[in-house]
Amino acid sequence: MERTFLMIKPDGVQRGLIGEIVSRFERKGLQLSGAKFMQITRERAEIHYAEHKGKSFYEPLLEFITSGPVFAMVWSGDNVIALSRALIGKTDALDAAPGTIRSDFAVHTNFNLIHGSDSAANAEREIGIFFGSEELVAYEHTIQRWV
Ligand code: PPS
Repeated sequence: MERTFLMIKPDGVQRGLIGEIVSRFERKGLQLSGAKFMQITRERAEIHYAEHKGKSFYEPLLEFITSGPVFAMVWSGDNVIALSRALIGKTDALDAAPGTIRSDFAVHTNFNLIHGSDSAANAEREIGIFFGSEELVAYEHTIQRWV
């Protein structure tokens, strides 16, 4: 089964959207494998967003992601990377399809509520940055029989 790293960013936490956002992944039929509420350090943020170093939005992005707590999660399921990115919507809220998290709740690209891994390699890399293997739970998820 595929895994992905999802993170509700500080704006999603401050706006009280943790429950709303988690609920969308649960209702889709994806399986929660790990979660924690945490404050990201500058060092961890630099590792996570290393590929964007030098881009115009890099510094504001690091400032934003370390500005308050985030809700970090690992979700599992068939095609979970593509499915979760479909639920999240495009980076810019103006391009995000109606019904997606970013279309429904985000206004600015800079404050787009949630991060989702964009490939299997990045998912494994990002899970490793935020979670130890002892923090992830493997269990039988009965909904997998029906989705
Ligand atoms: S890129 O340049 O195509 O790789 O950018 P993208 O993958 O769409 O997004 C990179 C992350 O930076 C966040 N971010 C912005 N991207 C583009 N422009 C602006 N102004 C901007 N501000 C922030 C964007 O949300 C991506 O973060 P994550 O956490 O992956 O969603």
